[in-house]
Amino acid sequence: MTTPDVGFSPEAARRDIPILHRTVNGHPLVWLDNGATTQKPRQVIEALTAFYACANSNIHRGAHTMAREATEMYEAGRATVARFLGAPSPESIVFVRGTTEAINLVAQSWGRADLGPGDDILVPVLEHHANIVPWQRVAEQTRARVVPVPLRPDGSIDQDAYADLLSMRTRLVVISHASNVLGTVPPVREMTALAHRYQARVLVDGAQAVAHFPVDVTDLDADFYTFSGHKIYAPTGIGALYAKPEILEAMAPWQAGGNMIESVSFDRTTYAPVPHRFEAGTGHISGVAGLLAALDWLTAFDRTAVADYETRLTAYAQQALAQVPGLELLGPAAGRIGVLTFTLPGHTPGEIADRLDGDGIAVRAGHHCAQPALAHYGLDSAARASLALYNTREEVDRLVASLLELQAA
Ligand code: ALA
Repeated sequence: MTTPDVGFSPEAARRDIPILHRTVNGHPLVWLDNGATTQKPRQVIEALTAFYACANSNIHRGAHTMAREATEMYEAGRATVARFLGAPSPESIVFVRGTTEAINLVAQSWGRADLGPGDDILVPVLEHHANIVPWQRVAEQTRARVVPVPLRPDGSIDQDAYADLLSMRTRLVVISHASNVLGTVPPVREMTALAHRYQARVLVDGAQAVAHFPVDVTDLDADFYTFSGHKIYAPTGIGALYAKPEILEAMAPWQAGGNMIESVSFDRTTYAPVPHRFEAGTGHISGVAGLLAALDWLTAFDRTAVADYETRLTAYAQQALAQVPGLELLGPAAGRIGVLTFTLPGHTPGEIADRLDGDGIAVRAGHHCAQPALAHYGLDSAARASLALYNTREEVDRLVASLLELQAA
């Protein structure tokens, strides 16, 4: 079956992505591990090469032309991220290695200062380990409590339980904007508004969301929002943290060293203004060049059309997978991004991934760094196919054909 072209054609994206044209184990590659990382357009690859070939310099050291040029590019990247997220100013964006580092930064800077004994941190059971463990650590350090928010049987967050758990003790609510295991997209705006009634702060993990639908942190009223570049067609090792300006302004530095100071003496050290106060050491400058290129590449498409395309492809994949006898798809039927986690009786997730790999199809198998979410289904492991804008119905058909053959064998 051919892929319908309504407003957006995946072919337009595929043309730009060289790796999608390689073979794996003698078959054309089908990359369905986008939840783990996305493949890179040549515009991103060329931006990295161009930076190192023509523009490499450290930044914020204005001694020469190339330092000034690199600084301008880096700050243009910050402004692009701010626009991309609907943030009020570039100064509300901190460059980090990725979502995990951003959450640890908030936990150790904001959390160490603002949490105390008896405070609650509400964490839905479906969260990624990166949005659980940093809160467990800071809870130990401050004697706050991590309170799990349960899931309904279909894997969505139990909104009644959430409302019941909120109280004046709640200092922080953390939520994934899209689950990396179930693809669930919770009602983040509504959950944030409810948390704010109790003066709680809200951190939104956008790692799985930003590549799939437009995000506006101002509209969400999120206090913190974070994403990783490599899940949105940019290089690994670069990501961004948004924080409301007044919150960021009040936060103490986390890592200390060069670049984050105003002046240093053995009597008294003062810190640079935000956001530089949170960017100690030399950052991933070429990564920012790549992130800038990735965001330019993605936003050149009509993002609403891309989101519509991905929604239709996900629905197609759900229907197609339902043809595989015994296959059980985790999570709700509707309102999800293209994350399809499943089990197949008689085959371990590792066997499924191995078999698919033999046919050139890359999926992830394991606990997906979300053991409590899998435990909700009585599982410790599952297989996961995760879709991106460049995937097609033909690729879904190949996935299903391989699974049917595995089942028949
Ligand atoms: N968090 C990434 C995933 O879900 C690595 O695969």
